[in-house]
Amino acid sequence: MAIFGLYNFKGGVGKTASAVNLAYLSSRKARTLLWDLDPQGASTFYLSGETRRKGAKKLISGKRSATAYVEGTPFEGLDLIPANFSFRNLDIVLEQGKKPECRLSRLMKPLCKAYEHVFLDCPPNISLSAESVFRAVDVLLVPALPSTLSLRTFELITEHVSDWGKKAPRVIPFFCMVDRRRRLHRDICSAMCQGHYGFASTVIPSASAVERMGVERAPLFCYGAKTPPAQAYRELWGEIQALVSH
Ligand SMILES: Nc1ncnc2c1ncn2[C@@H]1O[C@H](COP(=O)(O)OP(=O)(O)OP(=O)(O)O)[C@@H](O)[C@H]1O
Ligand SMILES: [Mg+2]
Repeated sequence: MAIFGLYNFKGGVGKTASAVNLAYLSSRKARTLLWDLDPQGASTFYLSGETRRKGAKKLISGKRSATAYVEGTPFEGLDLIPANFSFRNLDIVLEQGKKPECRLSRLMKPLCKAYEHVFLDCPPNISLSAESVFRAVDVLLVPALPSTLSLRTFELITEHVSDWGKKAPRVIPFFCMVDRRRRLHRDICSAMCQGHYGFASTVIPSASAVERMGVERAPLFCYGAKTPPAQAYRELWGEIQALVSH
């Protein structure tokens, strides 16, 4: 059982596209759950689900088991906890209990028995709920754009979690929306994928096939299995699995 959090406090960097595509790839071989923690509900939308309006308070407070919120998707082997608009109040609800930063971890316990892999699609923030995510996951997958500002954000995340020593999740950053025609993109990718930052060597190219997920309401592989970004996601998932098993 492994929990993967797609996280970056920078917005629009490919967290949701990657959460949906990696979860789909995982679900081909292993029981997989995607939990959409973002009240925007983008991954819920991509997986043909509906964002719920309320009901999350009982979930977050632990009065109702997370398993009661699981729904199937049209994609066999892949289940979903849909986004809930009340997740926007997650920090306030978390603050009301003891050890709020450990709450998500506790809520996920019953899910661990049912799934081999759980993916969390996280909202772009760095508040108490992000802290709760950092504690709950085994692996923090951090998509980043190949820009200097984006790298600065990544350094802040790694500095933050590395303070926890052995309790820190493994951090695997990777580049998304890479345009190889741009010199800066090429330079940043080659420097960071070989350097000590541990960026995955597979980069996800910028491609309209990924943007079409919102039109098709499906993972990329369901309509564009042969496209370059689909191939890149397959390679990235292989790389992540190899890194995690060592
Ligand atoms: N590889 C890609 N190529 C082109 N467009 C992409 C790619 N990946 C994602 N996008 C597009 O970029 C936008 C942002 O992507 P996405 O929603 O995955 O980012 P995010 O980090 O989850 O954003 P947020 O912080 O708002 O949750 C979306 O319109 C998506 O379709
Ligand atoms: Mg998102």
